[in-house]
Amino acid sequence: MAPQQTVLVLAPIRGITDCHFRSLFQKHFPGFDSAIAPFINPQRYSSFSQKQLKDVLPEVNIALPVVPQLLHTNVQDFLFLAHRLEELGYKEVNWNLGCPAPMVTIKHRGSGLLPYPEQILRFLDQVIPKLPMKLSIKTRLGYKEKGELLSLLPHLDHYPLTEIIIHGRLGKQLYRGESDPEAFGRCLECTKHTIVYNGDIDSEKKFRNLQVQFPGIHKWMIGRGVLGNPFLASEIKGLETNNRLEQLENFHRELYDCYKELLSGPSHLLGRMKQFWAYLSFFFPPQQKSWKKIKKCRTEAQYQQVVDDFFQK
Ligand SMILES: Cc1cc2nc3c(=O)[nH]c(=O)nc-3n(C[C@H](O)[C@H](O)[C@H](O)COP(=O)(O)O)c2cc1C
Repeated sequence: MAPQQTVLVLAPIRGITDCHFRSLFQKHFPGFDSAIAPFINPQRYSSFSQKQLKDVLPEVNIALPVVPQLLHTNVQDFLFLAHRLEELGYKEVNWNLGCPAPMVTIKHRGSGLLPYPEQILRFLDQVIPKLPMKLSIKTRLGYKEKGELLSLLPHLDHYPLTEIIIHGRLGKQLYRGESDPEAFGRCLECTKHTIVYNGDIDSEKKFRNLQVQFPGIHKWMIGRGVLGNPFLASEIKGLETNNRLEQLENFHRELYDCYKELLSGPSHLLGRMKQFWAYLSFFFPPQQKSWKKIKKCRTEAQYQQVVDDFFQK
């Protein structure tokens, strides 16, 4: 049995964990307590229409509480969007200081801002007094050097952040190499804030070892690990999982039907479903034939046939 206080957060995975995925995932694979939504694309002087905010509209986020995420580094634009989100009822937003995508970091956004601590602090100085809600940060160990976050953290003690989520990689690593728990541990010594662990939790065993290593951590964020094994959050929480293949089939059917209605045309639909299967290593070791067949599908009929075979219908 997991200790009572374990809190699990579904990581934002842009392109996959949208509001439809989050809701259906929570319905079929319970275990998460909340989620952070993938970042809202930063826009200048935008009025942020309902369409741009569709992923965080309250009515599509009932199953799993969500915190919207902003990637902005422009104070006015950040505050503008935060006020829109407050109107929608949000009490907290998350600032993305971790995105490693070169298109983002080149603009000194996401992890690309970590080498410039004075800019981060100036941003917080200007934003926090006018922010109508709470703020948390999601970040990495640094962009180029692991010392970047270490030297920033004591300065962040002066700001009222709800928590800091740390993914134990550098921005320049993208998703290469492994998340570094030792470097994460060094961060804990430099902050008074509540810290959330993130990075490469892909099995219950790994999670339990991290729990022993970091007894002071109660909140854990998991992304690719649950895309690979959708039962991981249930396993960690000690929830029963009975007929796993049937559970997966039900989830898949609802997800497919949902995207079929929402996405225009089979190529978008199949593209989205292939992404989902690509992560599903628990059922689909990379060498397995069904995955290779799915990758080759060009039509909905072909796809349906391979999926039916997989679920042995
Ligand atoms: C395709 C992809 C998209 C991601 N999108 C976001 C995002 O929008 N916001 C964010 O903070 N992190 C994003 N991340 C990072 C994850 O939230 C998470 O920090 C990272 O994958 C490490 O955790 P994991 O090993 O549990 O997946 C993304 C990761 C991937 C692989």
